[in-house]
Amino acid sequence: MVRIIGFFIGLGFVGVLLLSLIVNGVDSIKNPPPATAEEEFHLGAKDVRFASDGAFGRFDREQVQRGFQIYKEVCSACHSLKYVSFYQLKDLGYNEAEVKAIANQWAIEVPTVNPETGEPSTRKALISDRFPSPYANETAARAANNNALPPDLSLITESREGGAHYVYSLLTGYRNQQGYRNAKGQELLKEFPDVKTPAGLHFNPYFANLNIAMPPPLTSDGQVTFADGTKSTVDQMAKDVSAFLVWTAEPTLENRHRAGWVTMLFLLTATVLAYLAYRNLWANAKREVSVRGPLEPAFRERMNEQKAERGIAG
Ligand code: HEC
Repeated sequence: MVRIIGFFIGLGFVGVLLLSLIVNGVDSIKNPPPATAEEEFHLGAKDVRFASDGAFGRFDREQVQRGFQIYKEVCSACHSLKYVSFYQLKDLGYNEAEVKAIANQWAIEVPTVNPETGEPSTRKALISDRFPSPYANETAARAANNNALPPDLSLITESREGGAHYVYSLLTGYRNQQGYRNAKGQELLKEFPDVKTPAGLHFNPYFANLNIAMPPPLTSDGQVTFADGTKSTVDQMAKDVSAFLVWTAEPTLENRHRAGWVTMLFLLTATVLAYLAYRNLWANAKREVSVRGPLEPAFRERMNEQKAERGIAG
C-alpha cells in the first residue's frame, strides 16, 4: 500500500515538472528573451591573412621579428611572456650575439637573491631566462591597470577564438562609442542607453563584452621604427605583433605542418603497397575458387550443343 502511495506521489512530482517544462518551453519560444548589447554589437575577428595560416603555413621571419620588436617596445610594459625563453629567438633568425645583447639590454630585470646579503634583488636577463614579467605578482599588475589583469601573451593566440585574427582585430578595433552603429544600422547608445562605457574602460566591439580595460596600445603610425624599413602603420604593427604571438604560442608550427605532410605521403604509399600486396597474395587463391567442372559456363554450353545434336530435349 505504502509503495502504491509513494508511486503516485512520485508521479505527481514528475507531472508537475513536465508541465512546467512544457509551459516554460512554449513561453520562451513565443516570447524570446530580448537580445543583449553583446549579441547585437559584438563583432567576429576580421578576415586577414597570416603566412602561418593553413596546412602549408610557414612563418614570415621578417614579420615575426618586427612583431617581436613591437612586443619589446610596447606590449612588454604590461604583458608577460612567461613561456618563452630568450634563446628561442634564434629560431627567428637572430644570431647568438644578437640574442645575448637582447637579453642583456632587456628593460625588466630578473628577480634573484643577492648571494652575499640574502636580500631579494634583480639581475640582468641571461639568454637561458624566460622573458621577465613586468609586475611582481597579480596584485601589483591589477594595481597598475585599474584592477584588470593583463593576461600572459605566450599562448593568447591559442586561447582565444580566432587566434591571431582576433588579436589583430582587437588591436585595430577601438572605436568611438558615440554614434557607433552595427552592420544593421542600429545605433548602440540608442538601442542600449545603459551600456555606456564606464570610465577607465575602452569601447572595442571585438572584445567579448565590448568594453576592455586595455587602453589602445597602438595609436599612431610610426610609433615603432622598424629595423627593416617597413612602414609602421597601426595596421602593419597590429598584424606583425599578432604574427609574433602565433610564433610564441606554437614555435614548432612549421615542423608540425611538415610532419603532417610526410605522414600523409607515407600513409598514401603504404596504402598503395598494401593493396598491391593483397592482389598478389590472393591471386592464386582467387583463381582456384573460380567455377570449374559441370557448372562451368563453357562446359554447360558444350553439353547443350551435344544434346541438341543428338536431339535430346531439355
Ligand atoms: C598599459 C598596459 C597595456 C599595454 C601597453 C598593452 N596591454 Fe594588452 N591588456 C592590458 C590589460 C589591462 C588587459 C586586460 C583587459 C581586460 O580584461 O579588460 C589586456 C588584455 C590584452 C589581451 C587579451 C584580450 C582578451 O581577449 O582577453 C590581448 C590579446 C592584449 N592585451 C594584447 C596586447 C598587445 C599585443 C599589446 C602590444 C601591442 C598590448 N596588449 C599592450 C594592458 C595593456
